[in-house]
Amino acid sequence: MITGAGSGIGAVLARHAAKEGYRVAAWDVDEEAVGGIAAAIGDVCVPSRVDVTDDEAVTAAIADLPEAPALVVNNAGVVRFGPLLELAAQDWRTALDVNLTGTFLVARAAAARMIAEGLGGAIVNISSINGLAAAPGAGAYTASKAGVVMLTEHMALEWGAHGIRVNTVAPGLIDAGMSDAIYADPEVRRLRSGRVPLGRLGTAQDVADTVLFLGSDRAAYVTGQMLAVDGGITRGALNAMPRARSQVVE
Ligand SMILES: NC(=O)c1ccc[n+]([C@@H]2O[C@H](COP(=O)([O-])OP(=O)(O)OC[C@H]3O[C@@H](n4cnc5c(N)ncnc54)[C@H](O)[C@@H]3O)[C@@H](O)[C@H]2O)c1
Repeated sequence: MITGAGSGIGAVLARHAAKEGYRVAAWDVDEEAVGGIAAAIGDVCVPSRVDVTDDEAVTAAIADLPEAPALVVNNAGVVRFGPLLELAAQDWRTALDVNLTGTFLVARAAAARMIAEGLGGAIVNISSINGLAAAPGAGAYTASKAGVVMLTEHMALEWGAHGIRVNTVAPGLIDAGMSDAIYADPEVRRLRSGRVPLGRLGTAQDVADTVLFLGSDRAAYVTGQMLAVDGGITRGALNAMPRARSQVVE
């Protein structure tokens, strides 16, 4: 079950999950978009219009699934930009509501069903490197995504005894979805790629592969963890540090 499957990373993830043999419940608030993605994947992908901020709709959609989901991916997300001093309260609320509360509502309903059916399962919550490091003008987004990291740890603690593993994936500079507009500018692509230790932007496929690994039995003993899919960029905080000549490594 994938939220926000109508676009970007979620759509690519839905396609790859289907290829790996999952039957996919593809959710999005944008019914037309997720319908189109599901139609392109085929019968194994069933689309639904679900707004993750709507507790009742989420509970009903979980009840509608033919069985408890083996893997839930909380991927739906929105960005609301603005320096904190100018940020509208409604923008703050929307970012927190979709990114953090939506993750809570979906995971809670799914975990209740997993527990009722007794088979365990896996949940992967999509955060962002913006949940690990502050970024100018992104205060609402960063706070919501940092919340996802801690919420994941709580879920892992509380639901581990039921065989439910819960992990966070934090994508970095991803050339897809909500970042399409940013990377349409070739100069921005070049400059940003140059900051990444692996020397390139990430792809939706990079994120999907990591999600599917964490959702699989290959990660059977991994829970409560945060895995950044970021080409190493969050490890580069000291990269630009001035060095004494004797310390320079060519
Ligand atoms: N693309 C990136 O650069 C990047 C980087 C780091 C993290 N992320 C995270 O990855 C996830 C996917 O991002 P993306 O780039 O594919 O974005 P996207 O905008 O392409 O897709 C997000 C999807 O979520 C859906 N959505 C929004 N509000 C919803 C709601 N209330 N209920 C259900 N669905 C809703 C949208 O309709 C859309 O289809 C997000 O959580 C995002 O924060 C993206």
